[in-house]
Order: sequence, then structure tokens, then C-alpha cells
Amino acid sequence: MKHFLSIADFTAAEISDMLVRAHALRQERNAGRANEPVLADKTLAMLFEKPSLRTRVSFEQGMNELGGRAVVLGQHEVGLGERESVADVARVLGGMVHGIAARVFKHEHLEQLAEHAGVPVINMLSDQSHPAQALADVMTLMDEFCPGDPGGLKGRTVPFVGDGNNVARSLAVICEKLGMRFVIASPTGYELAGAPANAELITDPHSAVADADAVYADTFVSMGEEGEKETKLEAFADYQINDALLADASTHAVVLHCLPAYRGVEITDAVMDGPRSRVFPQAHNRLHAQKGMLAVLLSQ
Ligand code: CP
Ligand code: NVA
Repeated sequence: MKHFLSIADFTAAEISDMLVRAHALRQERNAGRANEPVLADKTLAMLFEKPSLRTRVSFEQGMNELGGRAVVLGQHEVGLGERESVADVARVLGGMVHGIAARVFKHEHLEQLAEHAGVPVINMLSDQSHPAQALADVMTLMDEFCPGDPGGLKGRTVPFVGDGNNVARSLAVICEKLGMRFVIASPTGYELAGAPANAELITDPHSAVADADAVYADTFVSMGEEGEKETKLEAFADYQINDALLADASTHAVVLHCLPAYRGVEITDAVMDGPRSRVFPQAHNRLHAQKGMLAVLLSQ
């Protein structure tokens, strides 16, 4: 049994296996064929402490398309660590379902779930990381540069412009695992903490994008940081992905964003809707990448 708490817990071969599986499942689906019901009779409990569109829909739809089902629980129903201890929630769910996916404020709650559940626990975003997003991100890069072949990503350069946050951390780690160069430009005070050794941390967004194969954006203000909004927006004023910044990027560079986007803040409409944008195929890849991961994790 394996949990999916962090990309760091997986080898390049294991990550590639999920990506290749995701690619095959998508091909089958795009050809109008149903996927094999490899998760028949499997149920995933999904627990949310924060809002979600892509993660909620892609996990639930992914389970359905693989022959399984999902039970979705909101924070106010469960009260993780409040109404009931995290360990007790894990013990109860572990006796009823085959996997637990959770979006939490505190990453340590995922670790506690994993310790006590007896079934695989999946990170659907925490304060530390967003590994399910990272899988879809590299799947989108594969579509662009080396369809179906994770090994073909070696040597690609992915600059992230913005906050050293959960999404950046998982992306940095998956880049390291798959042999890509990861550069992050953040204002002083908002650097990526706990970055893998090969990540390049700088402050200048223009030099970050110089050799880009894909420029990556995320919100400057993550869920739960609303109280810091004013200060952060001021600090990140020069970190918007716009046409002026992309003028300094390689001509072939595409643009990724995990979404939701705050248009006109971290990214302009012109870039989001422009020819370099891959943000909607990237969002759709959440479904396929999740299916690859769920098939590997839960069908054992
Ligand atoms: N990118 C992402 O995780 O989106 P949601 O917050 O809508 O799930
Ligand atoms: N960094 C963002 C990602 C949203 C998908 C957040 O944590 O809110």
C-alpha cells in the first residue's frame, strides 16, 4: 500500500508509470472507448477543508470513469481535528472505503490520516504541496514536447514566476525527479522554502523566463492567506505574466497556470487567452493524470 502525499515519495520510474498510464487512459477515452473498470467496487472518500473546482471534479469523475465511486465530504460535516481527532476520522473511514483523499490546511493532518487509515491517503492540496497538480503539469509539458514519453522531458526549463507556495514546491520536486530545470522568481521574503537542491531561486522574473520551455503562474494569495492579500499584492506587483515579460522568454515557451486565475493580477487576459496559453488543456489533464495515479494506487 502506498500513499500519495508528496512527489518526493516516488521514484522517477513510479511517476513515469502514472503518466504513461494517464496518457493511455486519455487516448482510450478520446477514441470514444470506455476505460477498463479497474476500480470497480472501490470507493474514495474525498474530504475538503477548502474550496475546489478542478480537484473535486477530476477526482470524482476519474473514479467514476474507472468503475469506482467517490463520497465527497465538506469540512463542516467532518470537522477534521475539531469535531473528531484526525486519527479517529482515519480509523473510521479506513474501515469503510478503499482510499481517502483530502484537501487540508495542515499537511501534518494528511500524515496523521496516512498513519491511522490503513488505506491509501491522497493529498488533494495542503499548505505544503499539491502533487496531483504537478502530475497534470508535467503531462501538459509532455503533450507539448514529447507526447507519451516522460523521459523526453529531460533538460526542459520550467520557470515559475510568483510565490514560493504549495504548487511551486510540488512542481520543483517533479522537475527534479524527471530531470528538468526549475527556476523560481519570487520577491524577497516569499522564496520557496524546502526547495529541492537543483531548484534555482532568484528574484528577477525577466531573467527567470529567458530559457523557458514553459512559464508557470499561480495566484499570489493562496487559500487561507486572504488576510495578507494587500501586502502580498504589493510585493508581487512586478511578477505578473504579461506580454512584456513573455517578450523576454524563448519564442517557443508556453504558459501554464494551475488555476483558479485572478485575471489581471498574476496573469493578463491577453496571455491567458493567447496563443502560448495551455492552461485549459492543463486543467483537463487533471482528470487524466488523476486517473493514472488512482489506477496505480487503488487497483493494487
Ligand atoms: N488547481 C486546482 O487545484 O484547482 P481547484 O482548487 O479548483 O481544485
Ligand atoms: N496556491 C493555491 C493553489 C490553488 C489550486 C492555493 O493554495 O490556494
